[in-house]
Amino acid sequence: MSAFGYKKGVLHAEGVPLSAIADAVGTPTYVYATAALTERFRAVTEAFQGQKHLICYSVKANSNLAILRLFAGLGSGFDIVSGGELARVKQAGGEPGKTVFAGVGKTPDEMAQALAQGLLLFNVESAEELEALDAVGRKLGKRAPFALRVNPDVDARTHRYISTGLKTSKFGVPFEEAVALYAKAKKLKGLKALGLDCHIGSQLTRTAPMKAALTKVADLYSTLRTQGHALEYLDVGGGLGITYSDETPPSAQEYARTVLLATEGTGATLLLEPGRSLVGNAGVLLTRVLYRKPTEARTFVVVDAGMNDLLRPALYEAHHEFQPVVKRRGRDVEVDVVGPVCESTDVLARARPLVLPRQDDLYAFMSAGAYGMSMASTYNSRPRPAEVLVDGAAWRVVRERERVEDLWRGERA
Ligand code: LLP
Repeated sequence: MSAFGYKKGVLHAEGVPLSAIADAVGTPTYVYATAALTERFRAVTEAFQGQKHLICYSVKANSNLAILRLFAGLGSGFDIVSGGELARVKQAGGEPGKTVFAGVGKTPDEMAQALAQGLLLFNVESAEELEALDAVGRKLGKRAPFALRVNPDVDARTHRYISTGLKTSKFGVPFEEAVALYAKAKKLKGLKALGLDCHIGSQLTRTAPMKAALTKVADLYSTLRTQGHALEYLDVGGGLGITYSDETPPSAQEYARTVLLATEGTGATLLLEPGRSLVGNAGVLLTRVLYRKPTEARTFVVVDAGMNDLLRPALYEAHHEFQPVVKRRGRDVEVDVVGPVCESTDVLARARPLVLPRQDDLYAFMSAGAYGMSMASTYNSRPRPAEVLVDGAAWRVVRERERVEDLWRGERA
């Protein structure tokens, strides 16, 4: 089931015409669909049925409290990368005891707060971080539960900016150093080895790199168990891709089959960290056309959303479908859809065949539920968009549009 579709020529989110939302709250606005979020979560849960596992939704993909609360209600744990994300999880009613903490630069303060709150697992990314975590544990009189995030040196075959499993990447500890680090950690009183972790990249559309990485990591898991480390969790990371235009990522079942086959026989409880695959296609960014600008070289369509609202095209040359809220007939022309931001990279859709939009027409950037609002900024002093959550025929604002006065909160003239 697709969350967004046309009814009588008007693009709807579930039972709600997007034009009704735009009229009520203005644009740009992110709109999310509850049914799609729920359905994606259930699909992953079902695919791993019969296997001990915990889904730890990757908060960075979309950290709106309403979405975190929805997933917490479905039984989800969380994958976080900062103290701020932990605070969001708690604010939304999520459980620290189902939360894993990754990232190469956790501060001792962030570690101490997470440990005091009973975090499930620290995914440690360097030898020095391991020492710092030990110090935090000893200071609090606790053993900090940790997994080493290992770097399996596998090419995830995705955009190089979101590839994390190569030797040259800053993430994880070199695969070969893991055994010695677990041996060293065993002697430290502030630590307790509880798992092993890896994550090779994001927007993965092929199973071969997943298989290669997880086979290596599962093997290491078994070796460590044989060496007497009482590991319980194998964290397989996130990364499952979605369809933005014509990609054909594995289904939840295919993904599960790959993971289960590679980790078979480890006896581990699997931790899954999906982000994009749960929320990406459950959200759109609504925008309105300001101006058309035909020039000799190109036809520009200027919309009221910019790269500060949706950074992915500027940062990764990412593709988001651009669909009219009200379908119109006519001849396609090739347009560049650009935002108001004062940067040449503020092109949200390039060289798209489109019936030339009219001023004030509403459009939607599709597949914007993941890494959309969570990467938005106020660059050019543009208040960030509102966020709306649709549920059937009902909808509500789950984040007010930022106000201009919010822009200088904390500043002193
Ligand atoms: N676990 C770890 C350790 C991660 O680093 C990430 C994403 C995830 C899980 C979730 O990955 P996902 O299932 O969403 O692929 N801003 C980029 C994506 C950055 C991903 C960072 N890490 C984008 O818009 O494409």
